[in-house]
Amino acid sequence: MTLQQFIQLADDVEREALAAFDAATTPAAVEEARIAFLGDARGKVKDVQGALRDVPKEDKPAAGKRFNALKETVTQRHQAALEKHGKAEQKSASVDLTMPGRSRWKGAKHPVTLVTEEIEEIFRELGFTVAQGPEAETHWYNFGSLNFPPNHPALDAHDTVFLSDDVVLRTHTSPVQTRTLQKYPPPIRVLIPGNAYRQDPFDPSHAPAFMQIEGLCIDEGISFVDLKATLNRFAQRFFGAGKSRFRPSFFPFTEPSAEMDIECGVCHGSGCSVCKGTGWIEILGSGMVHPKVFEATGVDPERYTGWAFGMGPARVALARYGIPDIRLLYDSDMRFLEQISGGSQ
Ligand code: DAH
Repeated sequence: MTLQQFIQLADDVEREALAAFDAATTPAAVEEARIAFLGDARGKVKDVQGALRDVPKEDKPAAGKRFNALKETVTQRHQAALEKHGKAEQKSASVDLTMPGRSRWKGAKHPVTLVTEEIEEIFRELGFTVAQGPEAETHWYNFGSLNFPPNHPALDAHDTVFLSDDVVLRTHTSPVQTRTLQKYPPPIRVLIPGNAYRQDPFDPSHAPAFMQIEGLCIDEGISFVDLKATLNRFAQRFFGAGKSRFRPSFFPFTEPSAEMDIECGVCHGSGCSVCKGTGWIEILGSGMVHPKVFEATGVDPERYTGWAFGMGPARVALARYGIPDIRLLYDSDMRFLEQISGGSQ
């Protein structure tokens, strides 16, 4: 094929293609014209490309140039036909450059995470390090090592989830006290954040799976004064002065034991459904580590004493932010969470 003949062929196909796209006034007709001219298998533009092979070598650059121009022209006309008659999604011109951009969704930390990190920071300043333990625990670590007598009513109060006869989902983070005492010699100052589980139905102040933060401080000559001073210091830093109180309590693994309450952040002390009318929210249990716990872990109770606490950071969040129902912390409703944590849609 001579160069003349090739150019003639390209001119013919171009004329025919432009006419076909101009005549196409429906999405189906535009598509039909595309297949006829730009289709990979039967497209006439492809045929012209094939004919390039038959052009003498010295004329190939000129023929190639003509072919490129043909392809460009036909492709442009196809685009134009699409804009005019194609389906909406094929029209690139429908992009409105003046439309304000969609802002990116910005994540934020959950209120309980915020509170936990702040608590960790306060205790870190007081010389505590962070430790962790398993959520699936043996009955002995969860209860026996902590001086729960077998068949004691306190076992019922824990509404334990059993994984097998001997293995439970830990009902509190206190078993990590045992593990820490077994592993490290005193002096010990650790904070143990983690999940705990009980077969408790949801209510405004209870959840079946919840965070706890355990604290443990063991050394020579530690007394209840250290416990009170440290926890008061924490409450002051976190909530402000005069907003906390201690009440005597009972736990098998501490003697004496005390619970700490924080002024209710919802009613500010006047009494409401969150604090069950008392004006206070219980945020932690605490006490002097029982000699039986030392015995179970091989620590010398003649030489060492210590104190411990177990705090519920979700309860702390209720008191801190005035949240009326603990379930709000579990619902993943962004409208609520963004009010406390920030973040944005
Ligand atoms: N483990 C207790 C609970 O979940 C809380 C607790 C009380 C932890 C007193 C302690 C403590 O370390 O000393 O109810």
